[in-house]
Formats: sequence, structure tokens, C-alpha cells
Amino acid sequence: MDLYAVAGNPVAHSRSPAIHAQFAAQTGQALRYERLLCPLDGFAAHIQAFAAGGARGCNVTVPFKFEAHALASRLSERARLAGAVNTLRFDTAADGQPDWFGDNTDGAGLVRDIEHNAGRRLAGQRILLLGAGGASAGVLGSLIAARPAAINVANRSVDKAARLVAQHAEWAAQHGVDLQASNLQGCGSGFQVLINGTSASLAGAAVPVTEGVLAPGALALDMMYGPAAAPFLAWAAAQGAEGRDGLGMLVEQAAEAFALWRGIRPDTGPVLQALRQELA
Ligand code: ATR
Repeated sequence: MDLYAVAGNPVAHSRSPAIHAQFAAQTGQALRYERLLCPLDGFAAHIQAFAAGGARGCNVTVPFKFEAHALASRLSERARLAGAVNTLRFDTAADGQPDWFGDNTDGAGLVRDIEHNAGRRLAGQRILLLGAGGASAGVLGSLIAARPAAINVANRSVDKAARLVAQHAEWAAQHGVDLQASNLQGCGSGFQVLINGTSASLAGAAVPVTEGVLAPGALALDMMYGPAAAPFLAWAAAQGAEGRDGLGMLVEQAAEAFALWRGIRPDTGPVLQALRQELA
């Protein structure tokens, strides 16, 4: 039976095994999906041993997405842009040597959740992306590819936002997207979509943006889910926005990885519904 895993540290909390088990049952794919706790100083060796044991691929989570990027011998364009990999497929070259393909499905998962599950087209919209760390870097390329009119990356330290924007400048120009960086205070207003990619809510801090940035009826999405997302969702409601947590993105990025490995796209609707019920 084909073997996969989610590799991280910590990884005990991961919902990915349950999600992929449902995808496998639904599509009739014979596979096993485990949790792989990797030592902080031994990610590469751990993954190499996992692959050598016959595994076919893995998802990668905090804090190893950058190391996974370095381990891949081939990268998708979106993984290259993100500088991070959340999905590895253990391919073999014609000479029998490992030839691993690295992808990043986080951004596609986010875009699919917004467009398909929340029913909002991103094309032509103005997006405010809060944060310039790994979470934001992982999704910016896919947000640009959805062809919004503009994206402002706003971060506490504006230098980091400027760096992220510079890395994506050519990609944004190709897609006709006005891409800017700012600090959290000067991010402007009238955004139809706000995405929180900061880890502020994990630390129990307030939503790190001034009031009045949103257009009426905007969508405000936090990439967190569960209790961590609750303060953000309360803030969104107080702004008159439609609040959304990161659970849909989690399921959609998993579906994208499953499709990469198995060549078949699962139906995410019932899986997301079951997860929501479980967390309620
Ligand atoms: P991740 O991989 O989850 O994105 P990260 O790379 O450490 O983690 O990035 C965390 C992001 O949350 C950064 O954009 C950080 O802002 P700085 O770059 O200025 O540090 C942001 N962040 C964390 N706590 C915050 C807070 N209390 N207020 C505003 N931004 C915060």
C-alpha cells in the first residue's frame, strides 16, 4: 500500500491524516498516511529514510518548509516563488536516483477556498495581505495568479513586506496586478478581501490592522483555524465583514497535494463539513 505522511515538529495536532484518509476512501485509492515527527536538527535524514523505506511522498509543515524546498531536485513555479515546499513527491529518475518534486499547494488551496467555497471571485478585487512571514510568502504567488486588481502586503516590519513584494514583482507585472508593500498603519482602505497571514492571533494579540480598511461586505479570512481564529472572526463580524477561518484552505491544500500524488481530485465539500462539525 502506498505510504505518505505529514512531516513536522510538532505534528501530533495535524489534521492531515484524517483528511487524506477521507480522500482515499472517497476516491478508492489504496494508501496509508501517517504523522512523521522529525527532529529539529534532522529533517533531511528523516525524510530520506522515510523515502528509502518505500514511501511515495509527504506533506511538510512548520518549521521545515524551507528545508523541504532545498531537498527537492525539481520545483513547481509556485514553490519557487514561495521559497518553500509543503508537498514532496518522491519521484525516481531514469537512472534510479531520487528525483524529488517539490510543490507548494497552500496558495492554490487558499484561492480555491475563497473562490469555490466562499464563492468570491478574486479577479479585479483589491486584496490586503497582512504579514510577510512564511504563511504570506506561501500564498502570494497564487493570489497574484488569481488576477486581482491590487494586492497590498502590510507588515509590522515594512522591510520584510518590501522584500516579499520585490521577489514577486515580475510575477505581478506578468499578471497585471498592482503589488505594493506598506506598514500596518498605512495600508489604505477599500479592500474587498483581507487575508491574515500573521501569527498575531497565536500570541493572543489583537488583529494588527487599523479599523476602516475594509470595503462594505468584505471577506476577512484568517489562515488559522480552531480557537486561534476566534478573536479574528469576532473582529471581522464587528467590521461588518464576512469572517472565514483557515479550515477550508487546510482541506483544499490537502486536496491539491492528493491530486499531485494520485492524479485524482477528491471532493472537498463533505470533508470540510465533517471537520467543521468535529471542531464545533
Ligand atoms: P509564519 O511562518 O507563520 O508566517 P513568521 O515567518 O514568524 O511565521 O511570520 C510571522 C508574521 O506575523 C510576520 O509577518 C510578523 O511580523 P514581523 O515580520 O514584523 O515580525 C507577524 N506578526 C507576529 N506577531 C505579530 C503582532 N503581534 N502584530 C503584528 N504582526 C505580527
